[in-house]
Amino acid sequence: MNLAVLGAQWGDEGKGKIVDLLTPHFKIVARYQGGHNAGHTVIINGTKYVLHLIPSGILHPGKSCVIGNGVVVDLQALKREIEDLRNGGISCEGRLFVSNRAHVILDYHRAVEALDERRRGEQKIGTTNRGIGPAYEDKMARRGLRICDLLHDDDLKQLLADNLRQKAPMLTGDHHTSLEEVYRHTRALGRELSPYFVDAAQLLNQAIDEGKRVLFEGAQGTLLDVDYGTYPFVTASNATAGGACTGTGVGPTRIDGVVGIAKAYTTRVGEGPFPTELTGELGEEIRKRGQEYGASTGRPRRCGWFDAVVVRYARLINNLGTLVITKLDVLDSLKDISICTGYRYRGELLKSFPPEIRVLEQCLPEYESVHGWNQKTAGLQEFAQLPQLAQDYVQRLSDLVQAEISVVSTGPDRRETIVTSPAGKLNSWLSLHH
Ligand code: GDP
Ligand code: IMO
Ligand code: MG
Repeated sequence: MNLAVLGAQWGDEGKGKIVDLLTPHFKIVARYQGGHNAGHTVIINGTKYVLHLIPSGILHPGKSCVIGNGVVVDLQALKREIEDLRNGGISCEGRLFVSNRAHVILDYHRAVEALDERRRGEQKIGTTNRGIGPAYEDKMARRGLRICDLLHDDDLKQLLADNLRQKAPMLTGDHHTSLEEVYRHTRALGRELSPYFVDAAQLLNQAIDEGKRVLFEGAQGTLLDVDYGTYPFVTASNATAGGACTGTGVGPTRIDGVVGIAKAYTTRVGEGPFPTELTGELGEEIRKRGQEYGASTGRPRRCGWFDAVVVRYARLINNLGTLVITKLDVLDSLKDISICTGYRYRGELLKSFPPEIRVLEQCLPEYESVHGWNQKTAGLQEFAQLPQLAQDYVQRLSDLVQAEISVVSTGPDRRETIVTSPAGKLNSWLSLHH
């Protein structure tokens, strides 16, 4: 079984925790898109790790990790992450593999992004300012610099010269970049990191031929996908299931299932529409209880009710076989909880998720209110231990999304996890039940 694990909302659903939980069942964990805009938190026996570029599977000794061609790689960020892991006693040597077809993020991408956000003014995206978007722009414009170019001095210099020339009108004043400097710096980093560079598609397909299991790790979430998200308030890559194929070079029929992750409520970082957002005290309470501050940028996350329209849409786009609900414990103290069951636009209930931001902004969420359980679920490990009202809530989400819920997470630690039913899909795929 090769599975993809991805976010069913606007990111930060708890992918890091769930990938870590599932890793023992796989030999390889492969990231397929995004870059160091991601922040995946894993807590193991009280020790916290935040991964940005390297798959969360790296924390398990003996597992290999792949950064696929669909990822954009900031060499400095990669080096830093490898060093941070090494300082924590985790070695990447011989088990981290970076695709030689992945594109490289350079300093000038960040400069271009800052200027672009400033130019947009009120309409800014609220990006993580890591150069992600401009690096993907260069990829699509067919002038990008790839990992494989780093080790050919003449090609590297030529590509950098061409890119600097193309960006010259933007890179004035403080943003001026000297070719010699960027060339020397990039070349040195390329040499240093070269032991990690491989043909990752070859490696992954060969591993699958040999019967080794691969877990595909998504970054961001379905609603941040450049095609299916709330465009233009999205990231610049395909976070949805299709990205797992194009972003690693593994064909679709080699992936056996897709696991979606959603919080028991909703969060979003950055700008863009968010129909169930709670801007008042309640939103603040959820933010506080859920520690909803960006793992990459530290920005406060916007919080709101669970939106079944969003997760149902994510089920459709990714063909989610099963759903993981995280952060149930964050709702422990609420008296009443609302769930969005549909969107009303100009009086009509919408049948599908609207592509236009203008429409989405005018949608009125239809809510259903349920009683909160007002009891501690934090840390529970058995479904039967959950208060009846919490069980009912999980069941209601499952009914509304029309997806089975196989795991409920009740805390950030690996152990704070419930596998809901031995008959569940994930369990039949992986024999998870203890
Ligand atoms: P990711 O980007 O999808 O990997 O998610 P993040 O790591 O950015 O954000 C999820 C946050 O919620 C992290 O701080 C996790 O430690 C935390 N977390 C994950 N699952 C749970 C849970 O079930 N309960 C609580 N309270 N926190 C959780
Ligand atoms: P993980 O993997 C939440 C958001 C940014 C911004 C938009 C575009 O931890 O779930 P970008 O820098 O990607 O061009 O920004 O996407 N964003 C995320 N939000 N979690 C993430 O990653 C995100 N990565 C990007 O806030 O709104
Ligand atoms: Mg995150």
